[in-house]
Amino acid sequence: MNIKIETSRLTLRPWGEEDVEQLTLGLNDLELSKWLAFVPHPYSTSDAKNWIARCQASSNAGERPVAYEFAVDLKPARTLIGGVSLNKIDWKAGTAGGGIWIAGHYQSHGYGGEAFEAKIRFAFCKLGLTKLVNGYFDGNENSWMMQQKLGYRRTGEVSSRCMADGRQTVEHVTTLLRIDWKGSDP
Ligand SMILES: CC(C)(COP(=O)(O)OP(=O)(O)OC[C@H]1O[C@@H](n2cnc3c(N)ncnc32)[C@H](O)[C@@H]1OP(=O)(O)O)[C@@H](O)C(=O)NCCC(=O)NCCS
Repeated sequence: MNIKIETSRLTLRPWGEEDVEQLTLGLNDLELSKWLAFVPHPYSTSDAKNWIARCQASSNAGERPVAYEFAVDLKPARTLIGGVSLNKIDWKAGTAGGGIWIAGHYQSHGYGGEAFEAKIRFAFCKLGLTKLVNGYFDGNENSWMMQQKLGYRRTGEVSSRCMADGRQTVEHVTTLLRIDWKGSDP
């Protein structure tokens, strides 16, 4: 499976071995990973290699994988600036989870919203899912603002742990129903 999603400024594409260096640079940043649940700190090249190998294995899992993991490239130079995922797919229930990160230097240019929107469009319009569940750690207002703009609502709170700094925190659970999505079919 070699799915590519094009937006006006970005390409979402499968991870490859050539991404190890930029992936390591992007995620070896505690200011960023403190907002993610499962990213260790420091983040090493072997962490990046393992992650890419896992993504490649899961993308070979057939017609109905449990996850799609995309590297996010900035056009036209094809610079890797982040990652976005659609995971925990429950095909029967029509639901999925997911996450996103954009490397520090590239934040606040609208790329996160553009990549997340493309992931949502893929989930609803190409895969036919009807509900996406996300979340954000307490205090991560950038993520909440981005999600809110796309139609997500806060639907609960759970206790969660950040792997990067080890803190226990509150995760606000957010949900986007297909009918609440502010986008439209292409
Ligand atoms: C959350 C994250 C993906 C957002 O990506 P981004 O490219 O910085 O966000 P965008 O520029 O697309 O912003 C989308 C909206 O979010 C809000 N926002 C994002 N960053 C903001 C900032 N620094 N200040 C104020 N508002 C901000 C704005 O409402 C913005 O809308 P606008 O484009 O109309 O101004 C990025 O900040 C990131 O990777 N953070 C660290 C990891 C993380 O938190 N991942 C999500 C875990 S739930």
